[in-house]
Amino acid sequence: MCGIVGVVGNSNATDILLQGLEKLEYRGYDSAGIFVTAGDKTALIKSVGRIADLRDKVGNQELGDRGIGHTRWATHGKPLEENAHPHQSETGRLTLVHNGVIENYAELKEDYLAGHHFNGQTDTEVAVHLIGKFVEEDGLDTLSAFRQALQLIKGSYAFALIDKEDADTIYVAKNKSPLLIGVGQGYNMVCSDAMAMIRETNQYMEIHDQELVVLTKDSVSVQDYSGNSLEREAYTAELDLSDIGKGTYPHYMLKEIDEQPSVMRKLISTYADANGNMAVDPAIVKAVQEADRLYIIAAGTSYHAGFASKQFLEELTDTPVELGIASEWGYGMPLLSQKPLFIFLTQSGETADSRQVLVKVNELGLPSLTITNVPGSTLSREASHTMLLHAGPEISVASTKAYTAQIATMAFLAKAVGQANNNTKAAAFDVVHELSLVAQSIEASLSDKEMIANKVEELLSTARNAFYIGRGNDYYVAMEAALKLKEISYIQCEGFAAGELKHGTISLIEDGTPVIALMSNNSILAPHVRGNVAEVAARGAHVLTIVEEGINKEDDDIVVSSVHPYLSSIAMVIPTQLVAYYASLQRGLDVDKPRNLAKSVTVE
Ligand code: M6R
Repeated sequence: MCGIVGVVGNSNATDILLQGLEKLEYRGYDSAGIFVTAGDKTALIKSVGRIADLRDKVGNQELGDRGIGHTRWATHGKPLEENAHPHQSETGRLTLVHNGVIENYAELKEDYLAGHHFNGQTDTEVAVHLIGKFVEEDGLDTLSAFRQALQLIKGSYAFALIDKEDADTIYVAKNKSPLLIGVGQGYNMVCSDAMAMIRETNQYMEIHDQELVVLTKDSVSVQDYSGNSLEREAYTAELDLSDIGKGTYPHYMLKEIDEQPSVMRKLISTYADANGNMAVDPAIVKAVQEADRLYIIAAGTSYHAGFASKQFLEELTDTPVELGIASEWGYGMPLLSQKPLFIFLTQSGETADSRQVLVKVNELGLPSLTITNVPGSTLSREASHTMLLHAGPEISVASTKAYTAQIATMAFLAKAVGQANNNTKAAAFDVVHELSLVAQSIEASLSDKEMIANKVEELLSTARNAFYIGRGNDYYVAMEAALKLKEISYIQCEGFAAGELKHGTISLIEDGTPVIALMSNNSILAPHVRGNVAEVAARGAHVLTIVEEGINKEDDDIVVSSVHPYLSSIAMVIPTQLVAYYASLQRGLDVDKPRNLAKSVTVE
């Protein structure tokens, strides 16, 4: 999704902006641009497509010590150069980049900007014209004009604004969209994602909703919209530059798939002590104990991880678990229980749909827990409690290690609560031992990459659609596996409850339709899935089986080494991640940056 980077007071501004935008590429975008100034010289350069194209256009000429850059993921107006940011005011004096969606841009245009000429269709251009009108036509200084515009603008935004007549400043404001200040030595930065600044600084400052920041090379002034100064301390981010490199890997996705055994071990060392005792924050354990129902709110892969955790959470905590799709719950909550606890599962901690639910939860004064991979992220800051996934930065748009880390983190939470409640199943579930077996099972699956790549070639090389089927927890894995396959290979794929096929969808099975059947080690369910496999095979389906050791048969295709049933989703998902990876690779697609998608979905 859109990304912002800005810098003031560094003579390498152009390069810092371009490198920052490259670091934001993983979030997904379709066009990009920068605006740089040096004294009274300015340059505005935009391009549709990759940052590499923008770099070519910039060449070596455009130097500056202050600038703003943007990657755009189209919402209002097509991905064309005239819609790419930065945008400028009527006279060109002010230049703005924006993430988010301005809900009342049409009204603002009609009420304030009659006679203005617009180059494109974006809501952002309306915003900069509005600020510009207050400066250029009404004679306000830039700060007052910005403040006045912010009082009128409704919606979500992260703004970075430059006035070319004010050589030393970047004006910044945010509401609902992420934005951070980076404090450098003799210069300062602003960014929508810490990763784009990590080369320059690890000292960051939060900006809260409805705050405005005046940034110069040696000062950061945080204010509310009435102009009152606000105190804000910088903090040190624990990001490591090496974490965000690809190393020798051809794609981030493959690197992140391979990192999963170490993520499991990292979680063991974080959430258990050397004697195997749980090291989960007692306040979080208490919050779960006090709840009469757990509401897991999430989107996409995180939503699927919620399902994969539901059974053990219920059994070990003795508390019912309900799942909510964030984008649905933001607009209508069902009847809640008396003592709900909301658990927000989110890799990025910035998903706008999930945040919208959290805002409502906070308005209702209800307790919440965010389980996220990104410390300091919006959902982490705004929830009552946070548990971290410790998976290291996930760059590939297709989420892999965050999914397995979410299930593992939930397992620690469930075990800690179960133990505190004297739950007998919790006493019998040695989460540390079981997760170390999971790490080994993942390693075994990862050592079979070549075999999986060959199977994928046979099964999917000409496929336009496919099915994953499973029962119980395998159904939830099927949902996740199908999402992964479709998002990076563009093969239409459905994850289906195997027993439900015959109630309608089986009519889609024809000669050669790929069906991938998942069977974890469940003696009740597996024979039924075998029956469903026979049904689709009889109708011409090309079947591939992924089966957990213990119930495997000689002609099964991929055998996964056995783990505890609570954790089977982690082991079973690994081959499906590789299926998606190789299907995308074999089709020559952009594995890490699939079309139309964004890593962090910061608009509703
Ligand atoms: O950052 P989040 O976990 O909140 O993101 C939720 C979804 O946008 C995300 O899982 C998405 O479905 C991934 N692209 C899936 O690979």
